[in-house]
Amino acid sequence: MIGGAIFKQSGVSLMGEYASLVGEAILRQRTREAEHAARIEAELANRVKSEFISNMSHELRTPLNTMIGFSKLISEHDKRRLPDAEIVEYAKLINDAAGHLLSVINDILDISKLQSGRYTLDASEINVEDVLQLAYTANRNAAREADVSLDLEVAANLPLIRGDAAKLRQAFHNIISNAIKFTLQGGAVKIEAIRLADGGVAVVIRDTGVGMSPDEVKLATTPFGQVDGKRTRWREGAGLGLPIARSLVELHGGQIRIQSEKGRGTEVGVILPSASTINIREARDVLLGNGGVS
Ligand SMILES: Nc1ncnc2c1ncn2[C@@H]1O[C@H](COP(=O)(O)OP(=O)(O)OP(=O)(O)O)[C@@H](O)[C@H]1O
Ligand SMILES: [Mg+2]
Repeated sequence: MIGGAIFKQSGVSLMGEYASLVGEAILRQRTREAEHAARIEAELANRVKSEFISNMSHELRTPLNTMIGFSKLISEHDKRRLPDAEIVEYAKLINDAAGHLLSVINDILDISKLQSGRYTLDASEINVEDVLQLAYTANRNAAREADVSLDLEVAANLPLIRGDAAKLRQAFHNIISNAIKFTLQGGAVKIEAIRLADGGVAVVIRDTGVGMSPDEVKLATTPFGQVDGKRTRWREGAGLGLPIARSLVELHGGQIRIQSEKGRGTEVGVILPSASTINIREARDVLLGNGGVS
């Protein structure tokens, strides 16, 4: 009887020891796995970070160098006696560079505000056709310079929607300027707006440009993500236009859908809900995870 109890006791303690050994082994394995995952994540974050820093310093430095170089030339006018036409041309280059610099800085501020949820919309009843017309006009010159045709077709029965006209214009501008920027000479960009059955509006921006693979589409909508993120990429930009456009449309309770095929072109669909179904504050709360409509 006593021997059995001892046996039982030592059996229990052996089992206990065994269990704690297994437990420790599992813990060690989990720690190894977690360390591995953290290392991979850190490597990826580092790569994105260094690509981002090199892109951004390029984006900020290029216009600054233009401004410094040409303003220096103008300031040395006494020594060089520049012709008037040249001075005017340098002043225009400085002005363009300063405008570009301001828009990059504004984009950085916008994305950080959008990400922190400190972005507010100034909503009213708006006519999407007017908004599209402004974005179309602002991009006409760029299309002409790139030798890309740009067309706008708006259905006659487009309903009014509730939204912030300036913010929607910014979103459409970003999408249209991408379509032009990533389309080769002789290509076409078409903007079409139609009324949806539920009273909302769908705007589709189609291009015959370089297109993207599904993975590239995912990258393109991530802040600072660019399909060819290296310094050698063939188009300028900070990689903020599309993520800003997406966040602005989502703040309106809308959606952006991208369909693209490498080498064939891209179609960006923007769906905006009708004035009666949207409640901008609720849509924003949902996006920020503060509750609201489901
Ligand atoms: N219509 C398109 N066709 C092909 N690629 C596109 C298109 N739109 C976006 N992309 C890809 O998605 C990336 C991200 O676009 P996004 O507008 O965010 O940045 P960007 O145009 O490079 O710079 P930014 O808009 O900040 O000046 C682009 O660099 C490009 O690789
Ligand atoms: Mg862009």
